[in-house]
Amino acid sequence: MKDVSGLITTRLKADHIAFLNSVAEVAAHNQVSVYVVGGFVRDLLLNIKNVDIDLVVEGDGIVFAEKLAEKFNGRTSKYKKFGTATLMLQGRPSIDVATARTESYSCPAALPDVEPSSIKQDLARRDFTVNSMAVKLSGRGTFYLIDLFGGEIDLKDGLIRVLHDQSFVDDPCRLFRAIRFEQRLEFCVNGPTKQLMRSAIKNNLIDQLSGDRLMNEMKILLSEADPVRCVDRMRELLLFQAIAPEILDDDFHWTIMNKIHSTLAWADMIPMTTKPEAWFIYFYTLFMITDDNVFKRMMMRLNFPGNIYGRMCSDRECFVEAMNDFSEERELKPSEIYNIFSKQSSEVVILLLAACSNKRMKEYVELYFKKYCASAKIELNGDDLIGMGMEPGASFKDVFKALRDARINGQVTSRDEEIDLVESLFLK
Ligand code: CTP
Repeated sequence: MKDVSGLITTRLKADHIAFLNSVAEVAAHNQVSVYVVGGFVRDLLLNIKNVDIDLVVEGDGIVFAEKLAEKFNGRTSKYKKFGTATLMLQGRPSIDVATARTESYSCPAALPDVEPSSIKQDLARRDFTVNSMAVKLSGRGTFYLIDLFGGEIDLKDGLIRVLHDQSFVDDPCRLFRAIRFEQRLEFCVNGPTKQLMRSAIKNNLIDQLSGDRLMNEMKILLSEADPVRCVDRMRELLLFQAIAPEILDDDFHWTIMNKIHSTLAWADMIPMTTKPEAWFIYFYTLFMITDDNVFKRMMMRLNFPGNIYGRMCSDRECFVEAMNDFSEERELKPSEIYNIFSKQSSEVVILLLAACSNKRMKEYVELYFKKYCASAKIELNGDDLIGMGMEPGASFKDVFKALRDARINGQVTSRDEEIDLVESLFLK
C-alpha cells in the first residue's frame, strides 16, 4: 500500500484537506472505516482538480452521513434500498456517502441488488481499474492508497480497463463511460476491454437500458469539454447503430457537429439574453434535426419528459422555418431578422449559425442581439390603443407587431410617430 498523504497535502486545497480530516475524526469517533473512492482518487493521482467526493463506509453509510450532517450542520437525502445517502453542506458540492457493498444483477442492465460488504468487494464491483481505487481516511493506514486491480499502473499507461468480462453486461452505461474517460483523459481503452465493448454493442445490450438511464448517459457524455471526440468514438464503435442507425450518417450533421465548439466561442462575445446549454446543442444535432420518424422514435426511446419534448418540437419547427428563410439569397430587412430570431431559443441560434451557409448569418445574429432587441421596444400600450378608439382583442397583436417592425426598420422613432402609424394603418 502506498502512502498518498504527501499528494493530499500538496495537491488538494486547504478546505478539502480540512474536510477529509474532519471525516476521519467522525469515523474514529464512531469506530468505522471510511474511504474516499472513485473519480476523486483517480484525479488526485493525475493531479486534476475534482471537487466531487464519494465516501464509502465499512458500516452503515446512511448513519455515517447523518453524523457528518450533524457535525457540519448539513442535510441528507437517503436511499435506504442502496444503503447510500447524499450529504448537502453549505457552500460545497454534495457528497455521496455509501455503505461498502457487493452488487448482484437479477438480469443484465437491471438496477443491482445490494448487500453490505467490505471495501475490497465494493471496489471489485466498479467499472474500470482507474476508478476502482480508494484512500483510507481513518484508523490504521490513514491516507494509504488501496489499489487492488492495478489502477495506478493503468493511469500511468493511460489505459481504460474493466475489472471483469461481465462489466458491460452488468451495466451497459459503462460503454458510454469508457468512451468518456478515454477521450477526456486522452487514454486508450485496452484491447480486451474494446473487444468486450464491441460484443456488448453487437449484442444490443443498449436496448436493455431504460430511456432515463440512456438519456442521462448521453447528457453526461455531451457535457464533456470535447464531446465531438466522444461522438466520433461512438460512431467508430457503432454505438450509434445501437441507438438509432440514422444518426450522423451524413456529412451535413457531422459538419455541424464540428462547428458547434467554435460557434459557441464566437457567440460567447454576443450579449445573448440566455446563455445556450452546450450539451443540448450537440444533442439537437444528433436527434432534433434528423428526419421526422427518427426524431419521434428517439424521443419515445429516451422517455423525454413532456415539457422538454414540447420544447424540442417547437425548436425543431423554428429551426426548419429559419433555415428556409435564411436560404434566400436576398438581404433580409431588420424586422424580418428580428421576427426570425425572436422565436428561437439560444440553442437554436447556435445551431443555425453552425448549419447555415448564408454568409451574412453572423452579421444577422450580431445585429439582432446588439441592436434590434433594443430597438424593438415600443412606447404605446393597450390602454393607449383603447384611448385611440380601438376595440381590445386579437387585432392588438397585429398593431404591436406593425409598431415593432416599424421601430426596428427605423420608420418610426417616437411616440407621436407610433400614433401616426396606428392611425394610418388601423384607424383609417
Ligand atoms: N461507478 C461504476 N459504474 C458505473 C458508475 C459509477 O463502477 N456505471 C463507480 C466508479 O468507481 C466511479 C464511481 O462509481 O468512479 C463514481 O461515479 P461517477 O461519479 O459517475 O464517476 P466519476 O468516476 O467520479 O467520474 P466524473 O469525473 O465523470 O464525475
